[in-house]
Amino acid sequence: MKWIKVNTYDEMSKMAAAIFEKQLIEKPQSVLGMATGGTPEGFYKELVQCHMKGDISFAEVNTFNLDEYVGIAAEEATSYHNYMYEHLFKHINIPRQNAHLPNGLAEDLEKECAYYDKLIEQNGGIDLQLLGIGVNGHIGFNEPGTSFQTRTHIVELAEKTRQDNAKYFPEEKEVPKLAITMGIETIMEAKRIILLAFGENKTETLKRIQQEGISEEFPASCLKNHPDVTIIYGS
Ligand code: GLP
Repeated sequence: MKWIKVNTYDEMSKMAAAIFEKQLIEKPQSVLGMATGGTPEGFYKELVQCHMKGDISFAEVNTFNLDEYVGIAAEEATSYHNYMYEHLFKHINIPRQNAHLPNGLAEDLEKECAYYDKLIEQNGGIDLQLLGIGVNGHIGFNEPGTSFQTRTHIVELAEKTRQDNAKYFPEEKEVPKLAITMGIETIMEAKRIILLAFGENKTETLKRIQQEGISEEFPASCLKNHPDVTIIYGS
């Protein structure tokens, strides 16, 4: 595990974007794992700028997002579909059918989960996965207690996670209780992982990765078992 401490949020965003830029230059058909949340907003801005400058093309790229809420339509402002469209997809040349997120409105959610895993597999697996981290150590929406053997699955969101994400909804009670997320195993199969964390509220969480052992009670600790993880962080 490689730890890179930065002084500013901008520095973190630029460093992460440079890693993705290099990946796309080396392999224009890359499969990228994408994350949502406040943390990667600056990263997406930087990545869009790299694209605008003509440094990278997404014409042959496939993206797979970590997660999506259950019960929220793609067009709704609070969906992760919409987040990705606003922060990245509408600014770049990715073919619509190459940008994948779980469908939180699928009639058969179990089937949707299996389909999502299959799709990742059919595309050759994820080359480079971006991750944020929840204050309780969740990655994607894999909450404390999630088995490390999980593939894409349906989760019940922890109360803390619903509170943390309430700022994106008109009212806390509108935050969905369920989500679809890539499982820990799905995430761990990515060839390379970049985790971004910035701010005082994440300091304690990062310390736990460094100081505690590997446990399903702290999902992000699984990353210690991965051969190529870089954590870019600051506060
Ligand atoms: C959500 C997402 C996670 C993200 C986390 C942290 O729960 N599902 O993928 O890492 O929020 O978000 P933020 O970056 O806003 O702190």
